[in-house]
Amino acid sequence: MATIFSGVKPTGFPTLGNYLGALKHFVTYQEEHDCYFCVVNQHAITVPQDKLELRANSKKLAALYLAIGIDPDKSTLFIQSEVPAHTKMAWIMQCISYMGELERMTQFKDKSENRVAVSAGLLTYPPLMAADILLYGTNIVPVGEDQKQHLELTRNLAERFNKQYNDIFTIPEVHIPKVGARIMDLGNPNKKMSKSDENVNGYISLLDDEKTIMKKVKRATTDSDMTVKYDKENKPGVSNLLTIYSLCSGKTIEELEQLYEDKGYGEFKNDVAEAIISELKPIQERYETLLNSEDELDEILDRGAEKANFVANKMLAKAERAMGLERKRKKK
Ligand code: AQP
Repeated sequence: MATIFSGVKPTGFPTLGNYLGALKHFVTYQEEHDCYFCVVNQHAITVPQDKLELRANSKKLAALYLAIGIDPDKSTLFIQSEVPAHTKMAWIMQCISYMGELERMTQFKDKSENRVAVSAGLLTYPPLMAADILLYGTNIVPVGEDQKQHLELTRNLAERFNKQYNDIFTIPEVHIPKVGARIMDLGNPNKKMSKSDENVNGYISLLDDEKTIMKKVKRATTDSDMTVKYDKENKPGVSNLLTIYSLCSGKTIEELEQLYEDKGYGEFKNDVAEAIISELKPIQERYETLLNSEDELDEILDRGAEKANFVANKMLAKAERAMGLERKRKKK
């Protein structure tokens, strides 16, 4: 049985990009694997957050995990800051990371661009991510394409530690979906869809209502060519909508191209929006029910934190022992 770990930042409510690139796939692993799904709230604070919003978003994200089908009897669902081993292990990972490799991370460059003050946490985010993954002896990390570089660093850090100290860490594999690994912004299809984007029309929140989804898809940038064809280079907007449509309807991109051969963008966009609405509706309904069962949610998160603490502390102790951080006690 392989161990699976993945996390989502509570920096706003997840988008269709987070869902199609990562969350949707989580459920498929839990039948046969030992799964850990985390609300990575310590990653969220690498950029300023409003404390009330962060607190609320963490709980909302936990409810969303359950709404998409995560079963707390099969998977461990927990909040990162409730398992202190993550930051302790992150310090170890930072100490074996090189400044150069952290500065080369694309996400660090993107997120620090145009910021007056860049937090040290933004630079040391990838070692914290490595800690998250390595603490559970993770074999597989399902993520979207933007996390590929961080996963490569995680593997390098694990190999470096194993070589320098003791062979304790499993080298994790990254699983990136073949379709939907990078859902693009609706307004600017050359950049990825992000939940903390200032322009709300660029993304579809998993909580958007039918009218909003229809409006956002109808405004989505396409081109003047008017043919529904997948061509990422020359038709990035239409290609992005085709990807979304395919994942929400279960039809292949080729089938959709044929279906819309003689039809215009108006009808195409309408049907894309309908497919998104049908995919999200049951999730939204379950989410509303779960959010109103706060006691149950708390009980699930308490249980998750207990299990995660137990497993993570064991790996942390091994790493500390390997580095000479534990106290040698006199034999009695
Ligand atoms: N546009 C995307 N397409 C496909 N997958 C995506 N993911 C993120 N954006 C897309 C995947 O979603 C998972 C959770 O991501 P995260 O919240 O931990 O951080 P992120 O990658 O930085 O996502 P955002 O939405 O862009 O958040 P902000 O705006 O706060 O930075 C990951 O597996 C990610 O790959």
